[in-house]
Amino acid sequence: MRLSDFNNRREQVAEQPPKQPHAPLSVAPMMDWTDRHERAFLRVISENVRLYTEMVTTGAILHGPRDRLLAFDPAEHPVALQLGGSDPAALAECARIGAGLGYDEINLNCGCPSDRVQSGRFGACLMAEPDLVADCVVAMRGAVDVPVTVKHRIAIDEMPEWDTLVGFVDTVAAAGCTHFIVHARKAWLDGLSPRENREVPPLHHDLVHRLKAERPDLHITINGGIETLDAAAGHLEHVDGVMLGRAAYQNPYLLAEVDRRFFGADAPAKSRHEIVDAYLPYIELEVATGTPLIAMTRHILGLFNGVRGARAWRRYLSENAPGFEGTPSGAARLVRDAAALVEDTATAQVA
Ligand SMILES: Cc1cc2nc3c(=O)[nH]c(=O)nc-3n(C[C@H](O)[C@H](O)[C@H](O)COP(=O)(O)O)c2cc1C
Repeated sequence: MRLSDFNNRREQVAEQPPKQPHAPLSVAPMMDWTDRHERAFLRVISENVRLYTEMVTTGAILHGPRDRLLAFDPAEHPVALQLGGSDPAALAECARIGAGLGYDEINLNCGCPSDRVQSGRFGACLMAEPDLVADCVVAMRGAVDVPVTVKHRIAIDEMPEWDTLVGFVDTVAAAGCTHFIVHARKAWLDGLSPRENREVPPLHHDLVHRLKAERPDLHITINGGIETLDAAAGHLEHVDGVMLGRAAYQNPYLLAEVDRRFFGADAPAKSRHEIVDAYLPYIELEVATGTPLIAMTRHILGLFNGVRGARAWRRYLSENAPGFEGTPSGAARLVRDAAALVEDTATAQVA
């Protein structure tokens, strides 16, 4: 893609309404990972997969560097803003700000287990306060026209799994939320780190399938431990959407077949080298405005995973991108040189 093409796509996309209010495939909100540079990169790989920001707290939006925190590129659409908070008025105000900036969906985080989040009384501990979440949803829906969605766990701590899940969803659905994204495991708020809370509590995909079966009018997206498109296709026989997290970040080429497989696109998947070329105009634009090159290259290290030369690509970027102070075209050349260390993979596929 040339720079002019990239800008054309931005303008076209900015004028379009959101493609699908509920996408069958999405990439999870991931703090420090799904920043705007990562999202722009993923968008080059798939035109349709729905993207989520990192969680942004209401406090940061209302009292912090809002413009920087909420900035996104129009090419990122469809893109959802994930909010962290539990004060209905603050959430409504932040939802209004986000929708005003053009986000296609506002999502409330009820799944994050970190201590910092618990002390602010939001994230996963809200699973124990469905009435408060319902109040938040009412306030947010009153402030915006775009969908308001909730991402949550099955339950927390000793709470019973199915009863907590269905009770939470019913209460929040009564407030008008119709789309739930369920990370299919409990969160243990005491004793497990956030990372352990993504690995230790067992996955219960069956409970999310049951939720859809028993609440067929709701849009249910499943999340947690889904690592291949075949697995995603299997889940889509039971639920409306699949959200991929770590697999999409660590192995972004996983998304190359998503448009054809899940969104009815005809165009062949891009090769990894074509993806690099298509991302270069974005890198040049960002470097031109002072963004350090490494802010982009750190997200693309996994692109060639599983292909001969992947290590050389990673090493070249890791050695040369930090501290880079050259021109935008020099930055593009550096990334192109790294890609040249990898064999042509036009036909290589990821399951
Ligand atoms: C580095 C990292 C940061 C995360 N940050 C968030 C976040 O900001 N908001 C959120 O709802 N979930 C967050 N999560 C959880 C993911 O959205 C997702 O629910 C979880 O990783 C399970 O999906 P997976 O097994 O496909 O990765 C994060 C996960 C990771 C790995």
